[in-house]
Amino acid sequence: MALHLSGPSTLEGRTVLITGGTGGMGRAIATNFAAAGARVVATDIAEHADVGPGVSYLRYDVTSRSETDAVVEQVTHTHGPIDILVLCAGTISRTPLGDSTDEEWDSIFDVNVRGVVNPTRKLFPQMVERGFGKILACGSIAAKNGGVASGPAYVSAKSAVHGLMRWIAKAGAPHGVYANTLAPGPVETAMWAKVTNNQAPAASAATGVPLGRWGNADDIAQAALFLCSPASNWITGTSLDVSGGMWMD
Ligand SMILES: NC(=O)c1ccc[n+]([C@@H]2O[C@H](COP(=O)([O-])OP(=O)(O)OC[C@H]3O[C@@H](n4cnc5c(N)ncnc54)[C@H](O)[C@@H]3O)[C@@H](O)[C@H]2O)c1
Repeated sequence: MALHLSGPSTLEGRTVLITGGTGGMGRAIATNFAAAGARVVATDIAEHADVGPGVSYLRYDVTSRSETDAVVEQVTHTHGPIDILVLCAGTISRTPLGDSTDEEWDSIFDVNVRGVVNPTRKLFPQMVERGFGKILACGSIAAKNGGVASGPAYVSAKSAVHGLMRWIAKAGAPHGVYANTLAPGPVETAMWAKVTNNQAPAASAATGVPLGRWGNADDIAQAALFLCSPASNWITGTSLDVSGGMWMD
């Protein structure tokens, strides 16, 4: 039977938890996954949020283990077991190594690494037990090229995310649990606006982007849909470059 990537039934019946779900990428992924038939719960640090059609919202700080337990229990109680976990919560810094502080390293690792470990550690055993799960983390091109506009703490944290997903891919494969990482190049969201101070130069082949534009959140959502849908059922442990050709491997 042919598997189609898009269409209202691609994720039919799946329950999806998204962290950082009101950010640029998280919101686009939530909307696209809901349109593909999933029950989507977007989470983020704000108390309330206006999320897209077909998406529900819960507050969840990914750095907290107790909030991790609570959100997983609440989603499971309301929507059934979580089939797909998408990890978009993230923060960035760009302080050069010599000037960087312990506080900065702690806070970047807290959100970008512990914030991936917490929900994954909670859900991975449940997915193994059920014999199905798809975990997708937002890594970064920074883990491959040393950073576009980011500092060493962010580059190191994202590298850890890529490594953890590979471990999960190996451990989960015999049990039907997949783990992959997106490696986006610069995508026009609040994060990119922050690191460029809203003054990014135009993207072009000459500035290192062969496809001639920065990414948008829908570019990322389409790649996420592929990696969480049955169309990618022979892909695990990959880091998919979504970078307009900035990085090729
Ligand atoms: N925008 C880019 O150019 C780019 C490139 C590569 C990778 N990424 C990564 O993609 C992911 C999404 O980034 P984005 O561009 O949508 O950024 P964004 O700033 O729009 O979204 C990030 C979201 O994470 C949330 N968040 C921060 N701390 C949190 C916490 N403790 N608990 C829960 N949520 C928290 C924020 O509130 C925000 O909504 C991030 O992991 C980012 O590092 C972004």
